[in-house]
Amino acid sequence: MAKIGIIGGSGLSRLKTLSVNKKELIDTPYGEPSAPLQFGHLNGLEVAFLPRHGGNHQVPPHMVNYRANIWALREAGVERVIGMAAVGGISERFGPGVLCVPDQIIDYTYGRSHTFYEQDLSSVIHIDFTEPYCEVLRNALISSAQGIGEPLVTEGTYGAAQGPRLETAAEIRRMARDGCDIVGMTGMPEASLAKELDLCYANFSLVVNWAAGLGDGGPITMQEIERHLAKGMTRAVRVVSSMDTGG
Ligand code: HPA
Repeated sequence: MAKIGIIGGSGLSRLKTLSVNKKELIDTPYGEPSAPLQFGHLNGLEVAFLPRHGGNHQVPPHMVNYRANIWALREAGVERVIGMAAVGGISERFGPGVLCVPDQIIDYTYGRSHTFYEQDLSSVIHIDFTEPYCEVLRNALISSAQGIGEPLVTEGTYGAAQGPRLETAAEIRRMARDGCDIVGMTGMPEASLAKELDLCYANFSLVVNWAAGLGDGGPITMQEIERHLAKGMTRAVRVVSSMDTGG
């Protein structure tokens, strides 16, 4: 069975339930990934874990070396990647505490190294991105959640914001008009880079706050975010570790 790569987001710099056999810092043509990969078992599931923001949560979303992270996972023999993320909720169904496996993306990021196809090309390459996420992996997460009775929203549009600041209320109103259900800062270019390397990639998001101007309309505080992070990520990890990956 192919190893599963797990990219941990905010609230998941460490996978406490991972029994680590080996750590390896993999150098790539694009530089170093956010941290050494941790290889081990998560409830019997063979995984390679990579904290997106570094082991001490020191790399902000716009500074993550997404190319090196994805390249390193592929180099390690990973074929399926789960990008875990903390996000803000925009549409009504996506309140704090909700887990979601989105099925679409709108990319509002800029200035990030977002493709492997820029040098030594013999022809121009355009990957198909109609369905940005891997259905097989999305379905594995959805079935796992159903199997353990963990509520989860099975579709939604992820709006990828630049960060590191949070959005203005008007920016969130625009994202809502565009059709975004959730907003995060790391979903792109991670998803398209994975697709460029033919990896089966899914995003698994935890809503940790109402997006700007929603909910009670007041400022978004780190306390509010942290209140939902620890508990929610434990639930998310349980879903991942209960996945049936097909043997
Ligand atoms: N906006 C963008 N990214 C986020 C948010 C948000 O409200 N919450 C957690 N990550």
